[in-house]
Amino acid sequence: MDDYRRRLGDGLDELRRLHSSLYHDKEAFDRLLDMMEVFASCRSDELRALDRKREGDSFWFMGQGAVGMTLYTELYGGDLKGVASHIDHLKDLGVTYLHLMPFTTTPLHDNDGGFAVSDYENVDIKLGTNEDLEELARLLRKDGISLCMDFVMNHSSDEHEWAMRAKAGEKEYQDYYLCFDDRTIPDEYEKTVPEVFPETAPGNFIWSREMGKWVFSSFYPKQWDLNYANPALFAAMVKAMLLWANRGVEAFRLDAVPYIWKRLGTSCRNLEEVHVIVRMIRIILSVVAPAVILKGEVVMAPRELAAYFGTPDRPECHLLYGASGMVNIWGALSSMDTRLLYSQSEDFLALPANAVFLNYLRCHDDIGWGFDEDRERQLGIDPLLHKIYQYEFYSGRFPLSYARGELYNYDPKTKDARSCGTTASLVGIEAALESGDGKALEMALRRFELLYTLVYSLRGFPLVNSGDEVGMLNDYSYRDDPDRKDDSRYVHRMKLDWNKVALSHVEGTVEKRLSDCLRRLKALRSASPFFDPQAEVLTWHAHNDRVFALRRRIGDDLMLLVFSFSPNEEEARFDFFTGLYKDAFTGRIVEPGRGVRLSPYERLWLTRV
Ligand code: GLC
Repeated sequence: MDDYRRRLGDGLDELRRLHSSLYHDKEAFDRLLDMMEVFASCRSDELRALDRKREGDSFWFMGQGAVGMTLYTELYGGDLKGVASHIDHLKDLGVTYLHLMPFTTTPLHDNDGGFAVSDYENVDIKLGTNEDLEELARLLRKDGISLCMDFVMNHSSDEHEWAMRAKAGEKEYQDYYLCFDDRTIPDEYEKTVPEVFPETAPGNFIWSREMGKWVFSSFYPKQWDLNYANPALFAAMVKAMLLWANRGVEAFRLDAVPYIWKRLGTSCRNLEEVHVIVRMIRIILSVVAPAVILKGEVVMAPRELAAYFGTPDRPECHLLYGASGMVNIWGALSSMDTRLLYSQSEDFLALPANAVFLNYLRCHDDIGWGFDEDRERQLGIDPLLHKIYQYEFYSGRFPLSYARGELYNYDPKTKDARSCGTTASLVGIEAALESGDGKALEMALRRFELLYTLVYSLRGFPLVNSGDEVGMLNDYSYRDDPDRKDDSRYVHRMKLDWNKVALSHVEGTVEKRLSDCLRRLKALRSASPFFDPQAEVLTWHAHNDRVFALRRRIGDDLMLLVFSFSPNEEEARFDFFTGLYKDAFTGRIVEPGRGVRLSPYERLWLTRV
């Protein structure tokens, strides 16, 4: 416990100050400290050794070979034991970080894919036991894979014991939520709080008949927002987190974290108090379980993001999703125009070095078309028409579109909508396989390779959505399930087909081509000095708006990474890249300073010959 005391010494004053700034409750703070000590004292020797190792290396998670994967336990392995029995597949792709979608207890129906949690402390029996989770975490760790848990912190299910007791009239538990006797205050909130799901769950409050009160519910009606202004609720959530940290979880995804604090007259997003809470959680983990990292799910405008990393002295999240990179990559593909991708990448690359993003193409959620509207206007792009183009294109309805996807939360008032679909279906593999058109298939495969190569090229590290590696296509069966038919995100939440995984080792198959792409990218990244986390990464002008490029630099050595978003042959030129360079994928030798001819959707990783 000496380590614990030393670390507590470092964080105690700040933690006390932050806690009292929100709660002014000394007893609650003392109870929190007692709880931290209990968890520290029962942390296993193996995890304590990991704590000591990582304390001296705060960027351990982003070693240059880092590759993440995200998956639903039931879709990948049936249950936790099933996931454990398929670790080899993760190793085959070089995965070092595994994000499991929510695995704690949820109601049987209408559970928002596990994001309505009815018990924070136990694994859902459908998926196994707490011991299975511990065993999985241990096996993964043995293979150098860190387990990330989805921590659904903004809301619980209305079937959680706290909600049930609130419904039964217990005031103590009503205070775990935001409950109101009549519409006066909810109506005030509604004036300034936007809707998350305007189509599927309009409004931000729901009426609880049992309580006779209105309850704050930002997401689906069965998800009640938790009241972080109550120190007892904060302590209960910290308790759950420490419990999982001691069971071997090495990273927490902070689900919907920008929403956790509410104040009248505001959008109730990204408020200052959110940062106080995240900072407290960071301090608590760094004292009790410093091996553990925080990944924020912050799908917000780029200007809100930097705050979630905190400052080098007072850090908050270790990692954030590069959601706006993802949106701009898909946007560049459909419009064959990289100008917005350039400006978004420049904004991100200008962030300080502690800003580490997970770069990805698809996850379990939709693609929300959040472009930088000011920048669009500067470029003469109409933001609304551009958004409509994107979702029409990716739904496949736009003439000549190769994509297959679905709309999500179309709002007829604002014409806003988001898009769903697997990577393979969105890049055209589904349509090409259906039509049997070999040329179209080749183009679709190139689009896949282009986009994933870019994801593996950016600063930060790549996150692969399970199923992408073998080109899983959209699964439309959700339309027949009454529980899911209104939520098109299920179109890309399909069971992994293990036959396709087997084909990923068979020469000449689509599956092998896609998996090989990811295996190769991992191998090249791990071996190249240009992917050292310290390498400088900048965008580089290509003299062609259909082409995007990055420059990586380590010392005096340069690497040029080129991406053509065009279905045609293109010319690009890269100033100051004199001399000959060799492409890692084809071995082709080019002279970038004089001009390079690019085949459709070509990507190049060029280093000096
Ligand atoms: C997050 C999840 C999403 C879920 C929502 C509500 O945004 O990623 O899937 O619906 O939170 O929990």
